[in-house]
Amino acid sequence: MTKKKLRSQEWYGRTGKDGFIYRSWMKNQGLPHHLFEGEKPVIGICNTWSEFTPCNAHFRELAESIKQGIWEAGGFPLEFPVMSLGECSIKPTAMLFRNLASMDVEESIRANPMDGVVLMCGCDKTTPSLVMGAASVDLPTLVVSGGPMLVGRFKGKKIGTSDVWRFAEEYKLGKLSQEEFIEAEAAMSRSRGHCAPMGTASTMAAMVEALGLAMPDNATIPAADSRRKVLAHMAGMRIVEMVKEDMRMSKILTRKAFENSIMVNAALGGSTNFILHLTAIARRIGVELDLTDFDHFSARIPLIANVQPSGEHWVEDLFYAGGLPAVMREIQSKLHTDCITVNGKTLGENIEKAECYDRELIGTLEKPIKPDSGIAVLKGNLCPHGAVLKPSAASPHLLTHTGKAVVFEDIDDYKARIDDPNLEVDENSVLVMKNVGPKGYPGMPEVGNMGLPAKLLQKGIKDMVRISDGRMSGTGYGTVVLHVSPESAIGGPLALVQNGDLIELDVPNRSLNLLISEEEMENRKAAFKPTELPYDRGYVNLFLHRVNQAHEGVDFDFLQGSSGSEVKRDSH
Ligand code: FES
Repeated sequence: MTKKKLRSQEWYGRTGKDGFIYRSWMKNQGLPHHLFEGEKPVIGICNTWSEFTPCNAHFRELAESIKQGIWEAGGFPLEFPVMSLGECSIKPTAMLFRNLASMDVEESIRANPMDGVVLMCGCDKTTPSLVMGAASVDLPTLVVSGGPMLVGRFKGKKIGTSDVWRFAEEYKLGKLSQEEFIEAEAAMSRSRGHCAPMGTASTMAAMVEALGLAMPDNATIPAADSRRKVLAHMAGMRIVEMVKEDMRMSKILTRKAFENSIMVNAALGGSTNFILHLTAIARRIGVELDLTDFDHFSARIPLIANVQPSGEHWVEDLFYAGGLPAVMREIQSKLHTDCITVNGKTLGENIEKAECYDRELIGTLEKPIKPDSGIAVLKGNLCPHGAVLKPSAASPHLLTHTGKAVVFEDIDDYKARIDDPNLEVDENSVLVMKNVGPKGYPGMPEVGNMGLPAKLLQKGIKDMVRISDGRMSGTGYGTVVLHVSPESAIGGPLALVQNGDLIELDVPNRSLNLLISEEEMENRKAAFKPTELPYDRGYVNLFLHRVNQAHEGVDFDFLQGSSGSEVKRDSH
């Protein structure tokens, strides 16, 4: 059998002037000639390190472990940076730039001489942007996540990102002083890594492990645990073998792998952002997946992991209890265990020896942490293309509820009026926020779990039905209807809701309806005028023109699918 020529040899294997140019400048890094002779697969390490992305700030050190593994296995590692999206810093919202980062990743991988790639992912959007971009090239690809933070400690209690909302409410009510508030900031973020609960970052790390794109235990080993470096080292060794086996992403990302990922997300009570990102990834790799699949496949799975925000503990604790392999083992009768994963083994082989060491953390199908988990996909005249709600984060008594709408036209209107003592609102009202969808904001920010009016908090009210076309942080909670599609800014029915309208939420029957007559709905539709959006240049202008809706993954229409890895023209 003749050995397949490495892709990188299209650059480094050239003779004459072209070969000189492709190799010579590389040699200024002290690289000897034999590295370019085609015996060693060139492995790109796609690094989202940035000091503006604190969750990924340890990635240069972690990349060294990946490199050691690549060298050990006979590969040739070359690290490269891509746009890094720090959830807590980027304005107006990191989601606005997910597609831009994915374009950076896609073009960087395709344009450079690499045979395989390791994606270094951590903070929320750094996982989907890298996986989406890489999927549109389809080289052998392996994900290494940065790992969660150690759990914070404050006043003798464990704390993490899901406590931020509680701290904010206590501060608002004067129960927490300014000094205590600042002390809590440092106490919460006391180690390297991403958010400590099962927020979007850990949900994404679990998503790639369940899809088969990452090594076992990728999702839960804490960032500060030396075993995170061991995982990175082993991943470096493995990607070299994957190149030799030509194990491309498309061989791993099958429809069954996506179904597994949805079921695992339900078992974890993972973030609702998962829906948008998994949909976008599926569309890149050419797998059909729609919103109803999320409801259908997660409906069969109860909450297995007792981790915040759906449960009580933290991702760090979940690792000590057996990690994601132990969670997946509990639901293995539901999973497609024949799916192949990056380590060359099937999902079933990866989890067959997994053990649960703490039943407080990991339940069973017979004795789950909560019976309801996953994602409820709602349909109705308020959301013809769907809306989503996370039952495990909601209040059971509000899952069937009819109330009067209190409407905020946008986020500024909400901020200006929510704490107004004269606002006509009570605990049975339904808070509605418009214009926070993909185009309306633009970028679909995480404001869907809008805080409750101060006067109701003072009465001890903890939850109300809230509806918007925006998103919610993976660490957020409440009876929150999100991702209403089509969004209000383009004239979706949410735009037509008026103060005092009755809205009926019926989660058991998966419906969300505005209780007005069809005639009234038509009249309001005819009177609707879209808001002029003041973005006439730059990336945001591109975003506004080409972004699709929430039920389609909020990707750009022109980025769906793949352009492969071939580059037909040379630069010289
Ligand atoms: Fe980065 Fe939460 S802010 S994971």
